[in-house]
Amino acid sequence: MLGELHVLILGGTTEARLLAERLAGDRTIAPILSLAGRTKNPTLPAIPFRIGGFGGIGGLISYLRAQSIDLVIDATHPFAEQMSAHAEIACRQTHVPLVLFTRPPWQPSEGDRWSEVVDADAAAHALGAAPRRVFLTVGRLQLPAFEAAPIHHYLIRSIDKPEPLPKLPNYHLLLARGPFSLDDEMRLMETEGIEILVTKNSGGDATYAKIEAARKLGISVILMRPPARADVPTFHDLEALLAFIHDAAHQRVPEPRGV
Ligand SMILES: NC(=O)c1ccc[n+]([C@@H]2O[C@H](COP(=O)([O-])OP(=O)(O)OC[C@H]3O[C@@H](n4cnc5c(N)ncnc54)[C@H](OP(=O)(O)O)[C@@H]3O)[C@@H](O)[C@H]2O)c1
Repeated sequence: MLGELHVLILGGTTEARLLAERLAGDRTIAPILSLAGRTKNPTLPAIPFRIGGFGGIGGLISYLRAQSIDLVIDATHPFAEQMSAHAEIACRQTHVPLVLFTRPPWQPSEGDRWSEVVDADAAAHALGAAPRRVFLTVGRLQLPAFEAAPIHHYLIRSIDKPEPLPKLPNYHLLLARGPFSLDDEMRLMETEGIEILVTKNSGGDATYAKIEAARKLGISVILMRPPARADVPTFHDLEALLAFIHDAAHQRVPEPRGV
């Protein structure tokens, strides 16, 4: 008897939470969800979890060994570049299989006025030389890049208060946690006289309303492209991922006799 399949889920996303919900109570699998600890009051999962960094690649390698992890599922946000890179190296070194569970990026629809850029610096540059009213939903860690474009008025939406606050002369901070409805997004953009939305192409449904609102209001969008991911087996579909995990678990746990 080899026991349960020890699965480490690298989370911080809706995908990771949904996966955790589906693995809760499964007796062939021992999952643990890892959260970075960025969000002050995270929604806690129904499976065991840990919070905080591993201490770099070396720390993750030690963790994988100490917890006898059999499979790592990288369900981090498409923009969580460092954690994904660390997982790839640590799994290669420990021979622990790694798969990605992520959402495909949004594709433009008719009426979208998108400019795609590689990063926050390029997004700040793309705002141009004339002062504009800008809606920034890029995550608080990306805010310093916009200090290079101080002529604009920014509406900054963030889950937690950015620390330190951005050194911008003209901004309004809106602390709010989604999901936001299409009506809410349209109302906000109209009330604030938004001319440009700057955001990340994060894919998925949870934050798509702002893209739809911008399309309906004819507002330009500057979209940061997701960083390229390593060549790791990738699942976009939860059911397909669950089938893969169960296959791995059944290869590991012998079927009880007489079943
Ligand atoms: N980037 C985004 O736009 C975004 C948006 C929504 C949610 N998130 C979520 O927020 C978290 C942090 O994102 P980030 O962009 O700051 O990540 P990152 O730059 O890729 O990671 C920075 C460091 O944070 C720690 N870390 C990140 N994710 C972790 C996890 N799931 N469990 C344990 N440690 C983790 C690791 O520290 P050590 O080196 O010490 O191990 C990692 O080296 C991620 O879990 C991500 O899924 C990110």
